[in-house]
Amino acid sequence: MTPSLATTVGGVPLTTCIYNASGPRSGTAAALSKVCESQAGGVLAKSATIAKQNGNPLPRTYHATNGQASFNSEGLPNNGIDYYIAKETIEECMTDPQKPYMVSISGKTLADNLEMLDKIAKAPTLDKIQLVELNLACPNVIGKPIIAYDFDQMKDILKQVSAAISGKNIKLGIKLPPYLDGPHFQQAADILNQFDGTIAYVASINTVGNSLVVDIHSEAPMISSNQGFAGLSGPAVKYTALANVRKLRLALKESIDVVGVGGVESGKDAFELILCGATAVQVGTCHWTEGPKCFDRICQELQDIMKSKGYTCIHDFKGKLKEWSREGADIARGAAKAETKKDGTTKEAAGGGAKNDAAANLLQTILMALIAILLADKLSKGGILPF
Ligand code: DHB
Repeated sequence: MTPSLATTVGGVPLTTCIYNASGPRSGTAAALSKVCESQAGGVLAKSATIAKQNGNPLPRTYHATNGQASFNSEGLPNNGIDYYIAKETIEECMTDPQKPYMVSISGKTLADNLEMLDKIAKAPTLDKIQLVELNLACPNVIGKPIIAYDFDQMKDILKQVSAAISGKNIKLGIKLPPYLDGPHFQQAADILNQFDGTIAYVASINTVGNSLVVDIHSEAPMISSNQGFAGLSGPAVKYTALANVRKLRLALKESIDVVGVGGVESGKDAFELILCGATAVQVGTCHWTEGPKCFDRICQELQDIMKSKGYTCIHDFKGKLKEWSREGADIARGAAKAETKKDGTTKEAAGGGAKNDAAANLLQTILMALIAILLADKLSKGGILPF
């Protein structure tokens, strides 16, 4: 039987647990319609500001040649909130009525965010906007700090946002930046938990802000805007995303879902985030570089992993990361060896690999003993050492 990838985010059903992150290929209805036509379980629009804007000067993005890291300092280019909540936009992109449509807002000020929430609440399309993601983590607006690193400001914003949408039919998610220091996870979670009636989910993580990519030939940054400082994304940030999802899942109230995002480019990456507690997984950089077919591939890979483990739905493993143990380490080592030998003629199971290793060790010991005997014989006869 094919495993089910269905999930819910804040109670909203998604056909699959994989969908796009706000950002790449999400600024226009044409781009979003391609996400909807794929296996992505939902469709999330690019972070909007009140008015349409062009963003920072070019070049404002860079992909490292090893494929491990991407950088962007786009400065929120977008079509403005009215475009993302317009009937025509939603009708053009949402060709599958089973999938939810979600908007993201990233106002330059609290007043801007409140105004956009008011526009959404009053929009004739409100019943077609299933989730609203409030971005408190954009690192690329010149002169503006990342809001969710300032806990006092974050609390104040959530207080006002919570009051503004109370009684309105808006399900709210919060996009968070990566936290790196132990106490920060708890501090952030303590604040978010105070708004558990308002916050349906958190999306963790946004890019690692203020990264810098430098070229040794020109001896200058690769990105022109913001003195070259940019948000880092791609495989390099996956491990930070895993830790953030895990820490937040443990610290947040159960009613607040965690959506994992950061460096996902395979079903294995998605599986890891779900194991750490993610209820769904957003794909940003891989969608940017590979295009919307990445959703079909990642879904298929995730299903293949689930099938091989006998899992029928994501609840079979969601949040069930085990503690480290000696037995677990043996399993991991065996699997890594089997993986290395995949190119050979036989595909070893973990147990078989271990057996072969024991035989190789025995052979090595016998050879060493023979050499020692020969050497001792030579020495006793006063000969020259062969090496
Ligand atoms: C941009 C970058 C982000 O990480 C984000 O969350 C929103 C906007 C940008 O530079 O456009």
